[in-house]
Amino acid sequence: MNGLKLLGTGYALPTRVLDNDAMTAYVETSDEWITTRTGIRQRHFCGEGESTTTLAIEAARKALDDSGLDKSEIGCVIVATSSGEYVMPSTACLVHKALALREDIPVFDLGAACAGFLYAVDAARAMLLAHGSRAALVIGAEQMSQLLDMADRNTCVLFGDAAGAAVFALDEDAEYAYVCGTRGDMAIQVGGPRRTLPMTMEGQNVFRFAVSTIPSTVDELLEKTGKTLDEVDWVICHQANQRIIDASVRRLGVPAEKFYKNLDRYANTSAASIPLALAEMKESGKLTSGQRVILVGFGGGLTWAGVMLRV
Ligand code: UT7
Repeated sequence: MNGLKLLGTGYALPTRVLDNDAMTAYVETSDEWITTRTGIRQRHFCGEGESTTTLAIEAARKALDDSGLDKSEIGCVIVATSSGEYVMPSTACLVHKALALREDIPVFDLGAACAGFLYAVDAARAMLLAHGSRAALVIGAEQMSQLLDMADRNTCVLFGDAAGAAVFALDEDAEYAYVCGTRGDMAIQVGGPRRTLPMTMEGQNVFRFAVSTIPSTVDELLEKTGKTLDEVDWVICHQANQRIIDASVRRLGVPAEKFYKNLDRYANTSAASIPLALAEMKESGKLTSGQRVILVGFGGGLTWAGVMLRV
Protein backbone atom coordinates (compact mmCIF):
# COMPACT_ATOMS: atom_id res chain seq x y z
CA MET A 1 0.00 0.00 0.00
CA ASN A 2 3.04 2.28 0.44
CA GLY A 3 1.68 3.92 3.54
CA LEU A 4 3.45 5.83 6.29
CA LYS A 5 4.66 4.55 9.65
CA LEU A 6 5.14 7.06 12.46
CA LEU A 7 8.63 6.45 13.86
CA GLY A 8 9.20 9.43 16.12
CA THR A 9 7.67 12.62 17.46
CA GLY A 10 8.77 15.73 19.32
CA TYR A 11 7.37 19.07 20.40
CA ALA A 12 8.55 22.43 21.64
CA LEU A 13 6.79 25.18 23.58
CA PRO A 14 7.90 28.69 24.45
CA THR A 15 8.58 29.23 28.14
CA ARG A 16 6.22 32.23 28.55
CA VAL A 17 2.72 31.13 29.61
CA LEU A 18 -0.25 33.51 29.63
CA ASP A 19 -3.43 32.39 31.33
CA ASN A 20 -6.80 33.92 30.45
CA ASP A 21 -6.55 36.49 33.23
CA ALA A 22 -3.30 37.72 31.67
CA MET A 23 -5.21 38.53 28.46
CA THR A 24 -7.29 41.13 30.32
CA ALA A 25 -4.17 43.33 30.28
CA TYR A 26 -4.60 43.62 26.49
CA VAL A 27 -8.35 43.55 25.80
CA GLU A 28 -11.72 43.68 27.51
CA THR A 29 -12.29 39.99 28.08
CA SER A 30 -12.60 37.49 30.91
CA ASP A 31 -11.55 33.98 31.84
CA GLU A 32 -15.25 33.10 31.90
CA TRP A 33 -15.85 34.27 28.28
CA ILE A 34 -12.76 32.58 26.88
CA THR A 35 -13.32 29.31 28.75
CA THR A 36 -17.00 28.93 27.91
CA ARG A 37 -16.72 30.05 24.25
CA THR A 38 -13.50 28.17 23.41
CA GLY A 39 -12.30 25.85 26.19
CA ILE A 40 -8.94 27.66 26.19
CA ARG A 41 -7.38 28.32 29.62
CA GLN A 42 -3.85 29.38 28.68
CA ARG A 43 -1.42 29.75 25.78
CA HIS A 44 2.36 29.93 25.27
CA PHE A 45 3.84 33.00 23.56
CA CYS A 46 7.42 33.32 22.35
CA GLY A 47 9.70 35.56 24.40
CA GLU A 48 13.25 36.76 23.87
CA GLY A 49 15.27 34.36 21.73
CA GLU A 50 12.27 32.19 20.80
CA SER A 51 10.66 32.02 17.36
CA THR A 52 9.10 29.70 14.81
CA THR A 53 12.67 28.74 13.88
CA THR A 54 13.86 27.81 17.40
CA LEU A 55 10.64 25.89 18.11
CA ALA A 56 10.83 23.99 14.81
CA ILE A 57 14.46 23.03 15.40
CA GLU A 58 13.83 21.82 18.96
CA ALA A 59 10.79 19.74 17.96
CA ALA A 60 12.61 18.31 14.91
CA ARG A 61 15.66 17.31 16.95
CA LYS A 62 13.46 15.48 19.48
CA ALA A 63 11.49 13.71 16.73
CA LEU A 64 14.68 12.53 15.04
CA ASP A 65 16.07 11.24 18.38
CA ASP A 66 12.75 9.53 19.15
CA SER A 67 12.70 7.84 15.72
CA GLY A 68 16.01 6.09 16.31
CA LEU A 69 16.98 6.82 12.70
CA ASP A 70 20.32 8.14 11.62
CA LYS A 71 19.98 11.65 10.19
CA SER A 72 21.31 10.36 6.85
CA GLU A 73 18.02 8.45 6.46
CA ILE A 74 15.96 11.65 6.35
CA GLY A 75 15.06 12.13 2.69
CA CYS A 76 12.82 15.20 2.91
CA VAL A 77 11.99 18.05 5.31
CA ILE A 78 8.74 19.99 5.17
CA VAL A 79 7.73 22.67 7.65
CA ALA A 80 4.06 23.64 7.64
CA THR A 81 3.85 27.22 8.84
CA SER A 82 2.12 30.55 8.27
CA SER A 83 4.50 32.41 10.56
CA GLY A 84 8.03 31.65 9.39
CA GLU A 85 10.61 34.01 10.81
CA TYR A 86 11.92 34.92 7.36
CA VAL A 87 10.36 35.27 3.92
CA MET A 88 13.61 33.62 2.80
CA PRO A 89 15.21 31.28 3.78
CA SER A 90 12.43 28.83 4.59
CA THR A 91 12.12 27.57 8.17
CA ALA A 92 12.80 24.10 6.72
CA CYS A 93 16.22 25.25 5.50
CA LEU A 94 17.08 26.49 8.99
CA VAL A 95 16.06 23.11 10.45
CA HIS A 96 18.17 21.43 7.76
CA LYS A 97 21.17 23.52 8.79
CA ALA A 98 20.71 23.01 12.56
CA LEU A 99 20.40 19.23 12.21
CA ALA A 100 23.16 19.06 9.55
CA LEU A 101 21.02 16.90 7.29
CA ARG A 102 21.99 15.46 3.89
CA GLU A 103 22.42 17.87 0.99
CA ASP A 104 20.61 15.90 -1.72
CA ILE A 105 17.04 16.18 -0.37
CA PRO A 106 14.02 18.45 -0.93
CA VAL A 107 13.56 20.90 1.97
CA PHE A 108 10.79 23.51 1.95
CA ASP A 109 7.98 25.28 3.83
CA LEU A 110 4.33 24.69 3.03
CA GLY A 111 1.50 27.13 3.72
CA ALA A 112 -1.98 25.71 4.20
CA ALA A 113 -2.77 27.37 7.55
CA CYS A 114 -4.15 25.00 10.20
CA ALA A 115 -4.46 22.16 7.64
CA GLY A 116 -0.77 22.62 6.76
CA PHE A 117 0.68 19.72 8.73
CA LEU A 118 -1.58 17.18 7.00
CA TYR A 119 -0.94 18.69 3.56
CA ALA A 120 2.76 18.34 4.45
CA VAL A 121 2.39 14.70 5.49
CA ASP A 122 0.91 13.84 2.10
CA ALA A 123 3.46 15.95 0.25
CA ALA A 124 6.25 14.19 2.17
CA ARG A 125 4.88 10.78 1.17
CA ALA A 126 4.82 11.89 -2.46
CA MET A 127 8.43 13.11 -2.15
CA LEU A 128 9.59 9.82 -0.62
CA LEU A 129 7.88 7.85 -3.40
CA ALA A 130 9.30 10.11 -6.09
CA HIS A 131 12.86 10.05 -4.78
CA GLY A 132 13.04 6.52 -3.38
CA SER A 133 13.95 7.78 0.10
CA ARG A 134 13.09 6.08 3.38
CA ALA A 135 11.91 8.72 5.83
CA ALA A 136 10.67 12.31 6.08
CA LEU A 137 10.78 14.93 8.80
CA VAL A 138 7.43 16.75 8.86
CA ILE A 139 7.03 19.73 11.17
CA GLY A 140 4.25 22.15 12.10
CA ALA A 141 5.68 25.29 13.69
CA GLU A 142 4.03 28.61 14.48
CA GLN A 143 4.66 31.87 16.24
CA MET A 144 1.04 32.95 15.94
CA SER A 145 1.65 35.71 18.50
CA GLN A 146 3.56 37.70 15.89
CA LEU A 147 0.51 37.69 13.58
CA LEU A 148 -1.90 38.94 16.24
CA ASP A 149 -3.31 42.37 16.97
CA MET A 150 -3.20 42.36 20.76
CA ALA A 151 -5.99 44.95 20.77
CA ASP A 152 -8.40 42.68 18.83
CA ARG A 153 -10.26 40.46 21.30
CA ASN A 154 -11.81 38.47 18.44
CA THR A 155 -8.44 36.89 17.69
CA CYS A 156 -5.75 37.61 20.30
CA VAL A 157 -7.18 35.30 22.97
CA LEU A 158 -7.51 32.34 20.59
CA PHE A 159 -3.99 31.53 19.43
CA GLY A 160 -0.69 30.29 20.83
CA ASP A 161 2.87 29.46 19.75
CA ALA A 162 4.29 25.92 19.48
CA ALA A 163 5.92 23.35 17.23
CA GLY A 164 5.38 19.64 16.72
CA ALA A 165 7.42 17.32 14.54
CA ALA A 166 7.13 13.78 13.27
CA VAL A 167 9.39 11.35 11.43
CA PHE A 168 7.44 9.17 9.01
CA ALA A 169 8.89 6.24 7.07
CA LEU A 170 7.50 4.89 3.84
CA ASP A 171 6.36 1.33 4.51
CA GLU A 172 4.92 -1.10 1.94
CA ASP A 173 2.64 -2.71 4.52
CA ALA A 174 1.49 0.43 6.32
CA GLU A 175 -2.07 1.71 6.04
CA TYR A 176 -2.60 5.19 4.65
CA ALA A 177 -5.57 7.20 3.41
CA TYR A 178 -5.72 10.90 2.62
CA VAL A 179 -8.42 13.38 1.65
CA CYS A 180 -8.22 17.14 1.33
CA GLY A 181 -9.94 20.19 -0.04
CA THR A 182 -9.80 23.92 -0.56
CA ARG A 183 -12.40 26.65 -0.75
CA GLY A 184 -10.54 29.58 -2.26
CA ASP A 185 -13.78 31.54 -2.60
CA MET A 186 -13.64 31.95 1.20
CA ALA A 187 -9.99 33.02 1.17
CA ILE A 188 -10.51 36.16 3.20
CA GLN A 189 -12.20 34.49 6.17
CA VAL A 190 -8.97 34.01 8.16
CA GLY A 191 -5.66 35.77 7.65
CA GLY A 192 -4.11 38.99 6.44
CA PRO A 193 -1.71 40.34 3.80
CA ARG A 194 1.95 39.92 4.72
CA ARG A 195 2.65 43.66 4.63
CA THR A 196 -0.35 44.75 6.66
CA LEU A 197 -0.70 42.14 9.36
CA PRO A 198 -2.23 41.55 11.95
CA MET A 199 -4.61 38.82 10.93
CA THR A 200 -8.38 39.04 11.22
CA MET A 201 -11.00 36.31 11.34
CA GLU A 202 -14.70 35.89 10.51
CA GLY A 203 -15.11 33.64 13.56
CA GLN A 204 -18.68 32.48 13.07
CA ASN A 205 -18.23 31.60 9.39
CA VAL A 206 -15.10 29.63 10.18
CA PHE A 207 -16.92 27.95 13.09
CA ARG A 208 -19.73 26.78 10.77
CA PHE A 209 -17.18 25.58 8.21
CA ALA A 210 -15.27 23.65 10.91
CA VAL A 211 -18.26 21.84 12.44
CA SER A 212 -19.33 20.53 9.05
CA THR A 213 -15.81 19.79 7.78
CA ILE A 214 -14.62 17.55 10.65
CA PRO A 215 -17.51 15.05 10.35
CA SER A 216 -17.47 15.07 6.52
CA THR A 217 -13.70 14.49 6.45
CA VAL A 218 -13.98 11.63 8.94
CA ASP A 219 -16.85 10.11 6.90
CA GLU A 220 -14.86 10.45 3.67
CA LEU A 221 -11.87 8.63 5.19
CA LEU A 222 -14.09 5.85 6.56
CA GLU A 223 -15.79 5.44 3.20
CA LYS A 224 -12.47 5.37 1.38
CA THR A 225 -10.99 2.71 3.67
CA GLY A 226 -14.12 0.66 4.45
CA LYS A 227 -13.42 1.06 8.18
CA THR A 228 -15.84 2.06 10.93
CA LEU A 229 -15.16 4.49 13.77
CA ASP A 230 -15.11 1.48 16.14
CA GLU A 231 -11.93 0.40 14.35
CA VAL A 232 -10.30 3.79 14.96
CA ASP A 233 -8.54 4.37 18.29
CA TRP A 234 -8.21 8.15 18.16
CA VAL A 235 -9.52 11.12 16.23
CA ILE A 236 -7.06 13.98 16.55
CA CYS A 237 -8.49 17.23 15.18
CA HIS A 238 -6.89 20.60 14.77
CA GLN A 239 -7.32 22.23 18.20
CA ALA A 240 -9.25 25.44 17.48
CA ASN A 241 -12.19 25.41 19.85
CA GLN A 242 -13.64 22.91 22.32
CA ARG A 243 -17.16 23.67 21.01
CA ILE A 244 -16.11 22.73 17.47
CA ILE A 245 -14.84 19.37 18.69
CA ASP A 246 -17.92 18.79 20.88
CA ALA A 247 -20.26 19.57 17.96
CA SER A 248 -18.32 17.13 15.74
CA VAL A 249 -18.57 14.42 18.39
CA ARG A 250 -22.36 14.92 18.49
CA ARG A 251 -22.71 14.85 14.70
CA LEU A 252 -20.64 11.67 14.40
CA GLY A 253 -22.33 10.05 17.40
CA VAL A 254 -19.09 8.70 18.88
CA PRO A 255 -17.76 8.66 22.44
CA ALA A 256 -16.14 12.01 23.25
CA GLU A 257 -13.09 10.20 24.72
CA LYS A 258 -12.07 9.17 21.18
CA PHE A 259 -11.34 12.82 20.36
CA TYR A 260 -8.07 14.05 21.89
CA LYS A 261 -8.16 17.57 23.32
CA ASN A 262 -5.34 19.73 24.63
CA LEU A 263 -6.44 23.20 23.47
CA ASP A 264 -7.12 24.20 27.08
CA ARG A 265 -3.34 24.37 27.62
CA TYR A 266 -2.05 25.60 24.26
CA ALA A 267 -4.95 27.42 22.50
CA ASN A 268 -4.97 27.30 18.70
CA THR A 269 -1.41 26.71 17.47
CA SER A 270 -2.45 26.43 13.81
CA ALA A 271 -0.21 24.03 11.83
CA ALA A 272 1.51 22.92 15.05
CA SER A 273 -1.59 21.64 16.83
CA ILE A 274 -1.83 18.14 15.30
CA PRO A 275 1.87 17.17 15.56
CA LEU A 276 1.95 18.69 19.06
CA ALA A 277 -0.98 16.45 20.03
CA LEU A 278 0.66 13.38 18.45
CA ALA A 279 3.92 14.02 20.29
CA GLU A 280 2.24 14.72 23.61
CA MET A 281 0.05 11.61 23.34
CA LYS A 282 3.05 9.45 22.47
CA GLU A 283 5.05 10.87 25.37
CA SER A 284 2.24 10.26 27.87
CA GLY A 285 1.63 6.71 26.63
CA LYS A 286 -1.88 7.47 25.32
CA LEU A 287 -0.80 6.79 21.76
CA THR A 288 0.71 3.35 21.36
CA SER A 289 2.22 1.45 18.46
CA GLY A 290 -0.32 -0.12 16.13
CA GLN A 291 -3.21 2.18 17.02
CA ARG A 292 -5.27 3.50 14.12
CA VAL A 293 -5.77 7.27 14.12
CA ILE A 294 -7.69 9.79 12.08
CA LEU A 295 -6.14 13.26 11.87
CA VAL A 296 -8.25 16.21 10.69
CA GLY A 297 -6.97 19.70 9.93
CA PHE A 298 -8.99 22.74 8.84
CA GLY A 299 -8.50 26.47 8.68
CA GLY A 300 -7.48 29.50 6.66
CA GLY A 301 -7.65 29.26 2.92
CA LEU A 302 -10.10 27.80 3.56
CA THR A 303 -8.31 24.45 3.57
CA TRP A 304 -8.92 21.06 5.09
CA ALA A 305 -7.33 17.63 5.08
CA GLY A 306 -7.68 14.24 6.73
CA VAL A 307 -5.27 11.35 7.16
CA MET A 308 -5.92 7.84 8.45
CA LEU A 309 -2.95 5.70 9.41
CA ARG A 310 -1.62 3.32 12.02
CA VAL A 311 1.04 4.77 14.26
O1 UT7 B 1 -7.78 27.73 13.29
C1 UT7 B 1 -8.46 28.46 12.31
C2 UT7 B 1 -9.85 28.16 12.41
N1 UT7 B 1 -10.49 29.05 13.35
C3 UT7 B 1 -11.52 28.62 14.04
O2 UT7 B 1 -11.88 27.48 13.95
C4 UT7 B 1 -12.31 29.61 14.86
C5 UT7 B 1 -13.77 29.37 14.69
N2 UT7 B 1 -14.61 30.31 15.42
C6 UT7 B 1 -14.73 30.26 16.77
O3 UT7 B 1 -14.10 29.45 17.43
C7 UT7 B 1 -15.73 31.20 17.41
O4 UT7 B 1 -16.55 31.77 16.42
C8 UT7 B 1 -15.06 32.33 18.25
C9 UT7 B 1 -14.43 31.72 19.51
C10 UT7 B 1 -14.01 33.03 17.42
C11 UT7 B 1 -16.13 33.34 18.70
O5 UT7 B 1 -17.15 32.70 19.42
P1 UT7 B 1 -18.67 33.06 19.12
O6 UT7 B 1 -19.50 32.28 20.05
O7 UT7 B 1 -18.88 32.82 17.64
O8 UT7 B 1 -18.73 34.58 19.51
P2 UT7 B 1 -19.19 35.80 18.62
O9 UT7 B 1 -18.18 36.08 17.57
O10 UT7 B 1 -20.59 35.57 18.20
O11 UT7 B 1 -19.17 36.98 19.69
C12 UT7 B 1 -20.14 37.03 20.71
C13 UT7 B 1 -19.86 38.26 21.54
C14 UT7 B 1 -19.70 39.53 20.73
O12 UT7 B 1 -20.31 40.57 21.45
P3 UT7 B 1 -21.74 41.15 21.03
O13 UT7 B 1 -21.54 41.62 19.60
O14 UT7 B 1 -22.67 39.97 21.12
O15 UT7 B 1 -21.97 42.22 22.02
C15 UT7 B 1 -18.21 39.74 20.69
O16 UT7 B 1 -17.86 41.10 20.56
O17 UT7 B 1 -18.64 38.09 22.26
C16 UT7 B 1 -17.81 39.24 22.05
N3 UT7 B 1 -16.41 38.82 22.11
C17 UT7 B 1 -15.72 38.77 23.25
N4 UT7 B 1 -16.07 39.04 24.52
C18 UT7 B 1 -15.14 38.88 25.48
C19 UT7 B 1 -15.62 38.42 21.09
N5 UT7 B 1 -14.40 38.10 21.57
C20 UT7 B 1 -14.44 38.30 22.92
C21 UT7 B 1 -13.51 38.16 23.95
N6 UT7 B 1 -13.89 38.45 25.20
N7 UT7 B 1 -12.25 37.72 23.73
